[in-house]
Amino acid sequence: VEKWAQVESFQARPDDLLISTYPKSGTTWISEIVDMIYNDGNEEKCKRDAIFNRVPFMEMSCPGFVSGTEQLATVPSPRLVKTHLPVQLLPVSFWEQDCKMIYFARNAKDVAVSYYHFYQMAKMHPDPGTWDEFLGTFMAGKVAYGSWYDHVKGWWEKKKAYQILYMFYEDMKKDPKREIEKVLQFLGKERKEEMVNKILHHTSFQEMKKNPTANYEMMPTWAMDHSVSPFMRKGKRFTGKANKITAGTVFYILTPVQDFRCTT
Ligand code: A3P
Repeated sequence: VEKWAQVESFQARPDDLLISTYPKSGTTWISEIVDMIYNDGNEEKCKRDAIFNRVPFMEMSCPGFVSGTEQLATVPSPRLVKTHLPVQLLPVSFWEQDCKMIYFARNAKDVAVSYYHFYQMAKMHPDPGTWDEFLGTFMAGKVAYGSWYDHVKGWWEKKKAYQILYMFYEDMKKDPKREIEKVLQFLGKERKEEMVNKILHHTSFQEMKKNPTANYEMMPTWAMDHSVSPFMRKGKRFTGKANKITAGTVFYILTPVQDFRCTT
């Protein structure tokens, strides 16, 4: 409760950039892209520290680690701030300061699969049980950060009134150049061909998977055990073959997040 009070009263600065996602939606990917942009495409500068120190996780509070709010208090501006909070729990100072925000969404199906593996390797989570059990828990919104549906929908609604660039993992996968250019435009940064090419290379799945400052291997193994499942697992769309999805779950799980574009 005391730690939550620190999050609730978090003081955003006007030049903070918030990166918001539901877990397993590609947070690390978009974070690495934005850090590359902030460092003019200089990959050596981006290797200065692990991603969880370059883009601190605001609400993180875990024994053995400095909390996200304490960590952020020491970061010079302009800060990059990561959150998974549902929109209604975001500290009000972000709205008051009218901070720019990037929301990165991924379809529920791939999120559920990725989350299942993550629950097993990231030791702060309880045992997820079997895949079928976990899928039920996920669909009931009883996982960390609650319902995927409420999350993507809630943030979509807010983008009408605030500076939120709402992006999709699937778009980034399909046309990363176009999507990186959207981010540059949103941030008011100049587009330089050479820089875009460097970002494309450095933030590809293959490069990030082998980069210890991006792949979470710098986390202690008691917190994340990559021998159970690597953090950078597949980075793909799910084909439907590797995991069985039962009939009753098909409707929810197959709802593509892109549907939100048409409904509002
Ligand atoms: P998979 O488990 O499907 O492989 P988050 O950073 O929000 O925890 O999301 C992690 C997911 O994003 C993992 O998905 C990871 O592989 C994927 N990911 C990370 N970097 C990526 C990249 N450069 N390209 C594609 N997917 C990436």
